[in-house]
Amino acid sequence: MNVEEFFNLKEHPFKTTVDERYYFSSMQHTNAFDKIKYLIDTMGGLSVLIGGAGMGKSMLARRLIMNLNPDQYEFGLIIVIHTEIPGVWLLRQIAKLMGVENADEKDPIGTISKLYARLTELHSQGKKPVILIDEANMLTKKDQMEELRGLTNLEINGQKMINIVLLGIPELEDSLRLDPALAQRVTVKITLGPMQQGEIRNYIEHRIKFAGGSPDMFDPDAYNIIYNITKGIPRLINTLCYNALWQAKDAGMKKIDANILSDVAKSSLSHLGGF
Ligand SMILES: Nc1ncnc2c1ncn2[C@@H]1O[C@H](COP(=O)(O)OP(=O)(O)OP(=O)(O)O)[C@@H](O)[C@H]1O
Ligand SMILES: [Mg+2]
Repeated sequence: MNVEEFFNLKEHPFKTTVDERYYFSSMQHTNAFDKIKYLIDTMGGLSVLIGGAGMGKSMLARRLIMNLNPDQYEFGLIIVIHTEIPGVWLLRQIAKLMGVENADEKDPIGTISKLYARLTELHSQGKKPVILIDEANMLTKKDQMEELRGLTNLEINGQKMINIVLLGIPELEDSLRLDPALAQRVTVKITLGPMQQGEIRNYIEHRIKFAGGSPDMFDPDAYNIIYNITKGIPRLINTLCYNALWQAKDAGMKKIDANILSDVAKSSLSHLGGF
């Protein structure tokens, strides 16, 4: 028997994948979402979202994308998976995502002029261009930053022509420092912090309800210990609860209590240190 059958759930509520259906409007997320959305709507140019590992940056990127109406925005998401990608590759990807056909890495000047023409067209259609770059801390080369700066310089009628949102762990600040002129062009820098203690219960109940379970699966005493163990970092909450559900099932217990959670923290989160 698996966890879903034992607890009578449609699916496991605590998978650690980024699943937009489970989005929870925590204070930090709502605040960051509103600021970035405002910046996009006002064509503010460059914004940066910084947050530690597992804080929910990719979730927020997904949430933003789901909220952009394709009739009003031309948007795309780039996830950087290698530090060595050339700046011109980045430029080509952005051009492609904006709808430029035949963007050629070997012809960056041609690509820039095609992109400029496309952004002008979008402007005349009243569509707002948005590029989100997740794991932007993996951009560690000056030429990558220079390409981005080039794009943030494009203006029409006193307005930026493209919005770029960079998301990454705090090392992203080092990347920005590679090009001080780009760093200066950051209009908004947002720091995404952990969930507050008082939000943990709602977060957990929200996920359980969505997975078709009963919110009282957790003992009321469990929430404080979850906060103490995870410090409100969503990925750690998910990992802890994911394993706690298995442990409870193995022990034949229908309720997750403080004892199960401390056991799980010792066994399943020990590789993170501090447990
Ligand atoms: N607001 C939220 N609502 C629901 N689930 C969330 C929320 N924020 C984070 N999570 C969950 O926490 C986990 C980690 O989130 P995510 O992958 O977005 O973090 P991250 O900041 O991008 O981490 P990394 O720096 O490692 O890329 C995911 O399983 C995600 O579903
Ligand atoms: Mg991420």
